[in-house]
Amino acid sequence: MNPSPSSIVAQAAAAVRRETDLVPEIALVLGSGLGGLADEVEDPVVLPFSRIPGFATSTVHGHVGALVLGRLEGRPVGVLKGRVHYYEGHSMAQIVLPVRVLCALGAKTLLVTNACGGISEHLKVGDLMLIRDHLNLMGDNPLRGPNDDSLGPRFPAMSRAYDADLLALARKVAAEVGFVPAEGVYCALAGPSYETPAEIRMLSRLGADAVGMSTAPETIAAVHAGMRVLGISCVTNILHQGPSQDTHEDVLRAAAEARPRFVSLVRGVVREISG
Ligand code: HPA
Repeated sequence: MNPSPSSIVAQAAAAVRRETDLVPEIALVLGSGLGGLADEVEDPVVLPFSRIPGFATSTVHGHVGALVLGRLEGRPVGVLKGRVHYYEGHSMAQIVLPVRVLCALGAKTLLVTNACGGISEHLKVGDLMLIRDHLNLMGDNPLRGPNDDSLGPRFPAMSRAYDADLLALARKVAAEVGFVPAEGVYCALAGPSYETPAEIRMLSRLGADAVGMSTAPETIAAVHAGMRVLGISCVTNILHQGPSQDTHEDVLRAAAEARPRFVSLVRGVVREISG
């Protein structure tokens, strides 16, 4: 018989526990080009994904895979520097395993970030968009298959997947830092091909403000596990004037330019988040 999802989570969590007794309050997933913040974690214990049983390793440039446990703004955090993506061929269960492990280690909040293409005309390259809601159009779901009741319920509600209090906190912190973040609906597609003109028109009509290839699975698994979620997208290219000609390097460069605001926003939210 295959091991249950919860036993895979428990085994990975135990392996992490052998390296550190830090109990992370906040799980942070750093998306494409945004991983630099992991290097600012104080007293870090760095565990490459390859050293944690069950963790898949990323094959994509810009997604160095490591779990960094330590303190940010004085708060205990577990930072996923890079993530694995569905388009790499990993199962949904593998994609959400790191979030489930951080939840098992104690994290009550997930702060998930990504690079995205801007569908809404209001978005510009370099904008940070707070995710109000998502469209999961990946054609798969991390909760498909027998439900492991010890991880969460069979049919978790997604009516408030992105926590209203965390959104309010992110707006407040952004104002203190000196900018007004965009807000909108993030649509997750499987990728890895970028969108065709017809797909961009479709996504716009469906109500997507931004599109990317991640985040929805982690959010679904986190909500399933009872975590609060804040999602922040960094707009690395715009699609409202047509499909992206941008390369992955352009995406990484645009994310790097948004870095100062991104870092201030995430640090401020981590500092002020309630336990
Ligand atoms: N499409 C999908 N995913 C993305 C994009 C895009 O244009 N930019 C960054 N991630």
